[in-house]
Parts: sequence; structure tokens; C-alpha cells
Amino acid sequence: MNRILSLETVGKIGEEVLLKGWVNARRNMGKIAFLDLRDRAGLVQVVGVPNELDEASNEDLKKARLEYCLEIRGLVQERGEKQKNLDLPTGTAEILAKEIKILSESESMPIDVSADTKNIDEAVRLKYRYLDLRSDRMKKNLELRHAVNKFFRDYLCDQGFWEIETPTLTKGTPEGAREYIIPSRLYQGQFYVLPQAPQQFKQLLMVSGVEKYFQIARCFRDEDQRGDRQPEFTQLDMEMSFVEREDVMGLVENMMIKMAEKVSPEKKIQQVPFPRLTYKEAMDKYGTDKPDLREDKNDPNLLAFCWIIDFPFFEKTEEGGWTFTHNPFSAAMPEYKEQLLQKKDIEKIIAAQYDLALNGYEVGGGSVRNHESVALRSVLEIIGFDEEQISEQFGHILEAFKYGPPPHGGIAPGIDRLVMILANEPNIREVIPFPKNGDARDLMMGAPSPLPQKVLDEAHIKLK
Ligand code: AMO
Repeated sequence: MNRILSLETVGKIGEEVLLKGWVNARRNMGKIAFLDLRDRAGLVQVVGVPNELDEASNEDLKKARLEYCLEIRGLVQERGEKQKNLDLPTGTAEILAKEIKILSESESMPIDVSADTKNIDEAVRLKYRYLDLRSDRMKKNLELRHAVNKFFRDYLCDQGFWEIETPTLTKGTPEGAREYIIPSRLYQGQFYVLPQAPQQFKQLLMVSGVEKYFQIARCFRDEDQRGDRQPEFTQLDMEMSFVEREDVMGLVENMMIKMAEKVSPEKKIQQVPFPRLTYKEAMDKYGTDKPDLREDKNDPNLLAFCWIIDFPFFEKTEEGGWTFTHNPFSAAMPEYKEQLLQKKDIEKIIAAQYDLALNGYEVGGGSVRNHESVALRSVLEIIGFDEEQISEQFGHILEAFKYGPPPHGGIAPGIDRLVMILANEPNIREVIPFPKNGDARDLMMGAPSPLPQKVLDEAHIKLK
């Protein structure tokens, strides 16, 4: 007999079924035991009556405790009117057990996963994350994240995008965040760097003629933690050739609308087309470049997307020089191109950059890029790079741009933040299966951790 999921039992009244799952609750009523059996889909009530079961099954029924993993063959029955529980999707049915087998036993649990775990100390939840994920809310968050990823992947594939993987062991780029470094064993004193985003690779793929790229990409940034920041996180990284700002924004807007309709039909998007604010308008009116435009901030189903555009390209550094506000790869808006090339009125240059904000969070950022070496070079010179730094850090991309680079642009929505908002969760740790805690530690695996001397020696590392 094929095993079915708990939710499927309601449609099978009168049939014999095979279920597998965990004991979510146990109630004894005299000789009869009621078990709530939980599987990935939900719960179903199982009734264990001694004279319906053979000896081995009776033994296992007696032994079965919370979180034991069981196999149960039984008859699906309609519950009596008074016993129906309309709050439970399977609450009109119950399973009269005919055979019960313990597949594995459980020690007493460090956390109660039969109810919402949100009030349990997070350190304990993270140490036992694999158990925390058994709880209904966390399981739903995992499923939602899966649905969001699947939607994006299907949508972009339908639009002719290719999913392409880019390296994780790579070279650092000055894009704003501190990077994680990996010492090289083979080349003493040299290091790989984990990518803060696949920015340069996706641009190089445009030079390769790929035209439409996406990747559900893991990114690494050694930054201070916040509720909406993790050291490793996931972007829906995208890049397209022969596009202008409107093309990228249009595609992403349509994708977000369709995504919300499909994965969270209970949500309502406040305004379509998404409102657009210039950076200046946003700062003047809301004092932030990720304003929360919800008309009713208590409505858990309201999604207020907005675009922020027309960012200044450069800002002054404390030392009196210039730095870029987003990354060095953006193009200037066409009307500022000459100014960029001539390095004139630098503070007035506007970048062809766009951010997507949602309910007060930045959920995506991107730009049309500089595909001409002279313009990229000009940006690097404005931020004070000398010839040696330019060739050391950007030589490969400047070289690539010698060979017919197409005009291109892209964006990278942050998957963790999007799912957090769709799930009405207060921080992204709730929607990341195995997150780091607020101090960037993995409490379950115990990372970071010291390494044996031999391993350090092989990697040519001497601790200070
Ligand atoms: P940016 O740095 O703006 O752009 O990142 C894009 C989006 O990624 C999400 N994000 C994060 N999410 C969780 N934890 C973090 N530490 C974190 N940092 C960023 C945000 C953000 O909007 N290469 C460019 C994209 C491009 O230009 O195409 C980039 O990485 O939702």
C-alpha cells in the first residue's frame, strides 16, 4: 500500500490507508489512546483501540511517546458530529488503527514543537534547528520559501532566462561590504574571497552573449548583523543585455505582482503600477530611501512596493574624496554621461540605479551598467583609484569590455527579505532554514570554530 499524507485522509472515508509521521500529541482515555500523527502536510487523529490491533501493534501503541516516528495502517472514518474539529483541516476524519509500528523512538524533546516555537529562547531553537523546523509555522515558512523560489525560477525560465551558476571561490571586489576570505593552500599568502554578489560574473556573462541570466545566488558579507541582514543570504540575481532602466523595472514589477498572486493570494498590493520616488523625494518626505508606504501598517496582508530611482552616483567620503553610493559598475543616466566622462559636477551626477522597497525594507537593487571601459574607468578615477589599483582590481572587466560588450543592466531582489515580509515574520532568521544568530554564529554546527594546528599549517596560517 502506498503511503499517503495526513491531509489526503479526508477524501478517503471508508478506505484503508498507510500513514507515516511523528506523534504530535497523545491522549489516553482508559484503554483507548488517541494520537495526533504529524507529517509534512499537517496532522490527523489516530485512534488506537486494543482489540483492533495485534500484539506487536499493541506493544508499540503502549510505547509510542511524543515525537516517536510511526507507521500506521488504518481505516479512515468520519468523526461523530460532536467530535468534529473544524479548526483542523483533517478534523472531520480520524484513523482507526489496524497496525502500528514504531520506526524510531525519540528522547524527551529539548523544545516543544507541537505548538508555535516563537516564544522559546532563540539560542535553544537554533541549537536544535532541525527540531524547530518540525513545528508548523517553521515548516510553512520553508514551504513558502520553496514556492517563492520555484515561482521565480519558472517565471524567468519562461521569459527566456538561463539559470547559470557562478563561482563561490573568487576574488574580492570593492562593492561596499567587507568580504569573507579563504586562504589558499596551494599559493602561500594568497586568498580567495567569497562573493558579496555575483556582480562581475553576471556582467561578464553578458559579454559572453548569454543575454538573459539568473541565479538563485548565495552571497556572503561580513557585516554587523541585523534583523534583515545575515552574513550569508540569497539573491535572485539577474542580468539582461540590450535593456534600459524601464525594461528591468517593468519585468521585475510584473514578476513581483504575479509572484504575490501565486504564492500569497491573501495579500493585496496597495498600488499598481508601483509608485516611483526619486531618492531626493524619498529622503525629503520620509527621511529614508526605503519608505514604508502602507496606508494601514496593521494590515498583515498589505504589500506596498515602491521604486526609488535617480540616486546620486557619488557621495563625499570623510577624507574629502568621493565614493560610489551603490557600486562602481552602474552607468550614469544618459543625460549625465558627458559629465561623468569629464568628471564635472560630480555631486550632481545621477546613476541609472533603481531600488525596490517593500513595507519599509529594501528588497532589491540594481542598475543599468557602464559597458564602456572609458566610463567605468572614469568612475574608478573619480573614487581615487590609481592605474595600478584599476588594473589589479578591474583589469579583467576592463579587458572584457574591449571585445564588443553589449549594453546591459540587472537587479538582485533579496529572497530572504521578500519571504520574511510575505510570511509576516519579524526577521529573516525565521525564513532561513539554518541561519546564523545575531552574533554571526551557527549554534547548531558550532561555527565558527578553531581548527587543528595541522590544518592551519597547511593553509599557511599563523595566529596572531
Ligand atoms: P545590493 O547590495 O543592493 O545589490 O543587494 C541586493 C539585495 O540583496 C539583499 N541583501 C541582503 N539580504 C540579507 N542580508 C544581507 N546582508 C543583505 N545584503 C543585501 C537586499 C538588497 O536589496 N550586485 C548588486 C545587485 C545589482 O546591481 O544587480 C547587489 O548586490 O534585499
